Amino acid sequence: MDNTTSGLGRAWYAVALGDSVGEQPVRVLVLGRPWVVFRMGGRLVAFADQCPHRMAPLSIGTNRGSVLQCRYHGWEFDDGGQCVRIPALGGEATIPPRACLTPAAGVREQYGLVWLAPEDPVCDLPDFHEWDDPTFDTAWNQPRRTTAGAGQLCDNFLDAAHLPTVHIGTFGVEDDAYIPPQEVERDGWVASTTYRVMYKNFDDPLVESGEHPLVQPQDLYKECRPATTAFIRLDFPLTGKRLAILFSCLPETAESTVVFKMMARNDYGGDEARMAESLAFEDRVLDEDLVVLESYARMDLPLDLRFEVHTRVDRLSATYRRILGELIASDPVVSDPVASDPVASDPDTRGVGPWTSASQQRTGGLGPLGHDLIE
Ligand code: FES
Ligand SMILES: [Fe+2]
Repeated sequence: MDNTTSGLGRAWYAVALGDSVGEQPVRVLVLGRPWVVFRMGGRLVAFADQCPHRMAPLSIGTNRGSVLQCRYHGWEFDDGGQCVRIPALGGEATIPPRACLTPAAGVREQYGLVWLAPEDPVCDLPDFHEWDDPTFDTAWNQPRRTTAGAGQLCDNFLDAAHLPTVHIGTFGVEDDAYIPPQEVERDGWVASTTYRVMYKNFDDPLVESGEHPLVQPQDLYKECRPATTAFIRLDFPLTGKRLAILFSCLPETAESTVVFKMMARNDYGGDEARMAESLAFEDRVLDEDLVVLESYARMDLPLDLRFEVHTRVDRLSATYRRILGELIASDPVVSDPVASDPVASDPDTRGVGPWTSASQQRTGGLGPLGHDLIE
């Protein structure tokens, strides 16, 4: 799979930090397709970034309070996406029902992020309850745009064996490459694993006084879910503290991915300077991963397990590949030979065009050209 593979639409994608989406429209790209997100009357809304009239991007339009106005000819749309005014036709015009926007199947704000599901998502977001727990400090790394593929990045986050090589400059322990056997659990679309590794715990204040060793055990819970979201919960048995990180990668286009990394931890007691240091550390960890991932000649993640060599240490990432393969194979549009045939989906023959979303295709799409002119 790569960043624009068909069949990945039935999943939640982090598209922006919650604070960066206000009342004026913001354009985001998901799987190569543009969407517009904004708040209207306090409600978060998301539509395909395309006016039904002449397909102008709505993201250059203006939110006028209760309507979004298209920049091109001034058509106005309410928060449900229905056109309520066509200025050139005057006040008496009958607005045709087809003059409406294509809503995303889902849009929500959670864990500090705006999430968008192009199609009905097959599963929910991770249980990152630490984010809303007042005993935890929360923070996020600045979203990072990269040329690594979203699937590659998520796979890398799940990967257990690269820490002593790639992360030797941060938390990897050189002489502790061995990873004990670990089971992978599969619950529907979600796969997870739990295991213990050794870790340099720079956050433990008792290390300096010699009461605790720097290299400590760490209990990991790691999970992945469609399409490109991973979650990790790290418990430190020597200190009784916890760090949880949500990692979600937005497949923007065939050439770019945006990485969102959200952190909650209960070992800093509200110390902002230490949280800032922790974010800088996490940035360095990502830098280390990107040295490897951005050097790949391709951005795709092979889903056929025969393409790569897997060991018992790669069970979680192999299961991630299986889940993505199942997601794509079970997509109603991908698995419908007529819908996935570009000729059959031509506007003249099928009534829908490549600009329409799959949800619009399922609800009938556009009528034949020349039909239904608005008077
Ligand atoms: S393209 Fe939007 S009003 Fe014409
Ligand atoms: Fe890594």
